[in-house]
Parts: sequence; C-alpha cells; structure tokens
Amino acid sequence: MSSHRSLAPAPVTRAKDPGRVLIFDTTLRDGEQSPGASLNLEEKLVIAQQLARLKVDIIEAGFPFASEGDFAAVQRIAEVVGQEDGPVICGLSRASKGDIQACARAIAPAAHNRIHTFIATSDIHLKHKLHKTRREVLEIVPEMVAYASSLCGDVEFSCEDAARSDPEFLYEVIEAAIAAGATTINIPDTVGYTTPDEFAQLIRDIDANVPNIHQAVISVHGHNDLGLVVANFLGALRSGARQLECTVNGIGERAGNAALEELVMAMHVRRQLFNPILGRPEESEEPLTAINTEEIYRTSRLVSNLTGMLVQPNKAIVGANAFAHESGIHQDGVLKNRTTYEIMDARTIGLKHNRISLGKLSGRNAFRSRLEELGYTLNPEDLNQAFQRFKELADRKRDITDLDLQTIVSGQAQQVNATYTLKLVQVSCGTNLCPTATVTLEDSQGGQRTTSAIGTGPVHAVCRAIDQLVKVPNELVEFSVQAVTEGIDALGVVTIRLRQGELLCSGYAADTDVVVASAQAFVGAINRLLVLSENPSIHPQHATVPASPSDQKAMVGSSPKGSY
Ligand code: KIV
Ligand code: ZN
Repeated sequence: MSSHRSLAPAPVTRAKDPGRVLIFDTTLRDGEQSPGASLNLEEKLVIAQQLARLKVDIIEAGFPFASEGDFAAVQRIAEVVGQEDGPVICGLSRASKGDIQACARAIAPAAHNRIHTFIATSDIHLKHKLHKTRREVLEIVPEMVAYASSLCGDVEFSCEDAARSDPEFLYEVIEAAIAAGATTINIPDTVGYTTPDEFAQLIRDIDANVPNIHQAVISVHGHNDLGLVVANFLGALRSGARQLECTVNGIGERAGNAALEELVMAMHVRRQLFNPILGRPEESEEPLTAINTEEIYRTSRLVSNLTGMLVQPNKAIVGANAFAHESGIHQDGVLKNRTTYEIMDARTIGLKHNRISLGKLSGRNAFRSRLEELGYTLNPEDLNQAFQRFKELADRKRDITDLDLQTIVSGQAQQVNATYTLKLVQVSCGTNLCPTATVTLEDSQGGQRTTSAIGTGPVHAVCRAIDQLVKVPNELVEFSVQAVTEGIDALGVVTIRLRQGELLCSGYAADTDVVVASAQAFVGAINRLLVLSENPSIHPQHATVPASPSDQKAMVGSSPKGSY
C-alpha cells in the first residue's frame, strides 16, 4: 500500500505528449557557457558519448555560430554520437538566419537533429538588450521559426526570460511559433527569478491560453539563482511540461542550471507521486525517464574533471557525502535496516559499481575489453597511449578501478592538439630545503626547453618554472586536489583555474604523484588559455545579433538573406 499522497491533477493529454519525461541535456551548451568551464573538441566528444550512454533524449551540443571551434564540435558530435539509435543532436541559434544556417549545417550529420532557436520576450530584454518593440519580436519569431523548419523537421523555440515576460505577450509569441512549425516550446526562467507555485501556474496558463499548444511539447529551462530550479521544474511537470532542460552537476552560468541527477532521481525515488501525472497507475514501476541511472555517478565525475567545476561534498545525489553516513547513530540505523536513513541505494546511481577491474599483470586485451565494457572504443593510437598510462599506474597502484580507467581516458582528451606538453618535472623539497623545480616542456613543433625555479612550496616552484617557459600572463585563482578512489595509493586529481583578464579556464590531471599532476594540470590550463585567447567565441545571450548580412561570419557559408 502506498504511503504517498497523490498531488497529481488530471493527466495532461496532448497530441505531442511523449508519454514520459524527456531529458534535454545542455551541459555542452549552457553548462559550458559558465566561466572557466570551456572544453576542447575531444573533451566535448567524450562527454557527448557518455551522455549517450546515460541515455539522455536530446544533447544540446553547442552554439555553432559562436566560433569555428564550436561549429566543428557540434558537427563532430552529430557525426559520432548522432546515430540512428542515439540521442537527438541539437544546436542553439539566435533568431537570425546566419545562426540558423550554421546550426542546420552543424547538426546535419546526425540521424535525429534539432534546431533550437530563441529570442527574448520580456520587456526588460526588449528594451535594454534587443532594442525592439513587441510587434517587431512578433514578426521575427514566425519568420525565423519557419526558416528553421525549412531546414530541419524538429524545431524548438525558446522565449528567453519567459518567467519575467508578460504572459499575454508570451501566449501570442508561442502561438505564432507553433503555427510557423515549432515542435517544442521552451519556457526559460533565464535569471532564476521564479518560484515553484508561480512557475507551475505559468505553465498551466500557457497550456490553457495558447490555442495550438497541443501541437508542441512544453519544455522548461531555468537557472538556480535562488536555489529553486529543481523545485520549479517538478511543479512545471504537474502543469504539463514534458521536457526538462538540465546539466550534469547543475553546471551553468552564475548559480548554474537544473541538475540532471537531482531531477532524474527525484522522479525515480518519488515515482509514485509522479506516475499519475503521466496517466500511469501510482504503483507503476515503468521509469518516468529513459535515463540509465547507473551511469549518473560516472557522468558526474567525468563532467567535473573535464570542466574543472568541482562538485561540493554535500551536493545532492553525486556529492562525496551524499551516501556517507558519518554519525554513529545513523550508521547503526543503516546497518540494522538501510531504509532507516537512506531513501535510495547508492547502486542506483552506479556508485558501488566502481569495481576493481585490472591489476599489474593485466594485458592489453583485458584493458581494451574493460574499456569497451565501460563504453570507450579508442583508436589504436589512443589505446596505445592509454595502455602505457595504465601500465605506469599499475606499477604504483595495486588495484585499478573503473574510475581510474575513466580518469586515464578522459585525461587524454585534454592533450589533443596541445601547444605545450610536459616532458619532465623534478622537484626537491622538504624541511630545510628551498623548494626547487626543474621542468621541460615540448612545443607543438617538437622543440624542447628546460628551466628551473624556486617557490614557497613544490607546486609553486613548478608553476613558476612553467611560467618562465611559456611566458603567458596568468593569475592562478583555484587549485584543488581530490582523490579518485579511496586508499593511500589513490590517483590524485588536480584542478587548476587560471585567469587572464576576462578569460577564465581550467586544467586538470591525475597522477599518483600530486606534484606531477599539478604540473600537467597547469600546462593544460595554459594550453586552454592560449586557445581561448586566439579563438574568441560569441556568447549567444550576451552578444548582439549581427545587424546586416555582411556582418555574418564567413564560416556560415552561403549568403544569409537577412538577420535580426
Ligand atoms: O537561460 C536561457 O534563457 C537560455 C536560453 C538560450 C534557452 O539558456
Ligand atoms: Zn540558460
């Protein structure tokens, strides 16, 4: 018998109801927009592959118009991850022909693709950002949505800052977008301003007041400025939303986006509460989303490592303490019966699946097949490199776990096309010694240079030596060390964040020697700083849309006919 009080209104039935909750992952677009989280193409691809294993429905792979690098990354993800049985690959575009064309071309290789186009609808944004009247926006929306629909059958339209927009104006804009071909309507709380009841009411009002709303899936998107975004989304579900836009670990601008793992596990743990919303019997065991929850933990670690956005220990679901029962009284209760203090089993998110895979004597075949079981198929060159790293690690660490393997593979992605590679690092330090480091770096032409430096500690000395070699101005704003697994011989993951003026970027590396990991992470961050300073990207929400076709970027290709 259920102890749950149903809070479901009558299930919303609509022509476009997918019958479950769609998970739209925007880690690679909105998540990557957060300062310092930028990723290179290889890293984006590794994350996209993991998102496919996690079984998200839609991957928003980037904003193709932003730069050639962003375009190439979306295109590559579309080619590799956009398989027939894979997720929909989506690209973001402002409501401009140039953006939409770039997006259509980038996502074209995917078997299932989507153009996501947006324009702001709040008076604040109209006045201060777009400098447009409501009437002008109402003309742009159907024209651009129709244009996107002529290039792609699956079009999502977002009313940026919807939560602060006049609802009457929203209804008009949404109706026009659907009439022009939008198949998903996204309602963003761009500034994280709304509250659960208010947002649920807004979705209910949209459902009631937009005459053609049944032809589209209602989606929600939001930011966590007041810490309410997950609660807002769960309320929106009850009002008819069927797509949730979220990021792994909730990364994103300012306080971040809705955390995928929190939404999915709330729906999983409390499914009896949510089942009736989808018209299912309360006791139904059918999952509410397509997510393979056992991949949650690994995905979280991967995204944290590659973006350098650390997960706070008390973070729901994936934080280091989320399943730790520290106090004696809790431990006693859990030992007697797990459900006394635990509402979910750590295995559900794949936490206890971190099994010991391999050891010193494991050969290349065992290594390759375990990687394949984990979902990594490497080309021969990458496999060789990874195997070498594995052997080095196995010499120093007795048991190699799945998380160690994932760390080895993901670490390689950072080094692709790097300007500098660390060839040697040696330090001398200890009591009564002045910490001194000697570092050798190789540049992309194969030239090697060595220097030595002293510092207040070994890591400081290493960073100073690297600074002397690369001569890239930077300020170190964050340095952290975390262990991948338990045990004294664990791999240490070092995350370093550097700032250069407006630019912020991170580097990460893992090694049993944290000084070596620090040197690698510092070099990784320098490499990224060089890429970012040479290839500036456009921010989709902050940059103004080009005013004339001649302002459109050359990379977009065939002549754009107009833009806004
Ligand atoms: O926060 C926001 O409004 C967005 C849109 C581009 C969907 O990210
Ligand atoms: Zn956003």
